Amino acid sequence: MSQQPGSLRAELVGAFGDPIDENPTGIMQEAAFEAAGLNWRYLLLRVTADDLSSAISGLRAMRFRGINLTIPHKVAVLRYLDEVAPDAALIGAVNTVRRSADRLIGENTDGKGFLRSVCEDARVDPSGKRIVFLGAGGAARAMSVELALAGASHITIVNRTQSRGDELVRTLNANTPAKAEFVQWVGDYPVPPEADILVNATSIGLYPNTGDKPPVMMATVGPGLLVCDVIPNPPQTAFLTSAAARGARTLDGLGMLVYQGAIAFKLWTGLEPSIPVMRQALEKVFRT
Ligand SMILES: NC(=O)c1ccc[n+]([C@@H]2O[C@H](COP(=O)([O-])OP(=O)(O)OC[C@H]3O[C@@H](n4cnc5c(N)ncnc54)[C@H](OP(=O)(O)O)[C@@H]3O)[C@@H](O)[C@H]2O)c1
Repeated sequence: MSQQPGSLRAELVGAFGDPIDENPTGIMQEAAFEAAGLNWRYLLLRVTADDLSSAISGLRAMRFRGINLTIPHKVAVLRYLDEVAPDAALIGAVNTVRRSADRLIGENTDGKGFLRSVCEDARVDPSGKRIVFLGAGGAARAMSVELALAGASHITIVNRTQSRGDELVRTLNANTPAKAEFVQWVGDYPVPPEADILVNATSIGLYPNTGDKPPVMMATVGPGLLVCDVIPNPPQTAFLTSAAARGARTLDGLGMLVYQGAIAFKLWTGLEPSIPVMRQALEKVFRT
């Protein structure tokens, strides 16, 4: 069969990070490319903090279609981009870059992935809801900004380090319609009875520390609450197990990881990926 010139050339995307070897995103994206019949490759590329500038130049030279950024590049990459999406600018971090002609555009799909998981997996509309985030790091910033922009009425940021929590609360109050407040995290946090959604946005419980749970007064968790965890590995965290035992509905971090990848896939290819294919690919990595 005759082949059009250039048709054997794969389109390239991938991830820059350090460390990067254990990153599962490539397995999920490559499965989705194959299912969609796309000749695309997702490369895990170890790029140190000092080499980010050269790596971005290389990305431009090799005409990558886009890239994911992970530790330590999500904030540092901002200065190398031609444009940053408004929500990513508010979050102050970029986890996905897409190339449009010769321009590199920064996006953040983490919070959007969480929003989609809340809406589609938990079937909860965050509009008008009162939401409590445990943590004020990159994940909490992305999730709280997107839920505030989606209409959450009240957001409580509970964090150990006050300066980080205060900064996020200022961002939310100044730039979104939600009313935000900071609570210093000391001892077991009592969840207010009016809260609708509680989110663990810390790294507590991440493999291999699977027995760890964020300090929360579990007697204040009950059937009226949706309890979410950002940790995708393992998806069923000790925190979610305890919340379910108290009668709360739960949402694991695997959905967020799948949807943030699915949103990046759409930004790069213009196509909707198969969500079941992406989820199954990740489940194989995390559960075997
Ligand atoms: N499912 C997904 O798609 C997805 C996407 C992104 C991230 N994540 C996960 O989200 C987690 C957080 O990531 P991140 O980027 O936000 O990290 P980060 O920027 O380093 O922030 C970590 C947050 O957790 C808090 N924290 C950590 N250990 C704590 C402890 N022992 N007690 C109380 N607070 C503690 C930190 O509080 P201080 O400010 O006081 O230090 C901070 O608020 C990671 O495990 C990551 O794998 C998941």
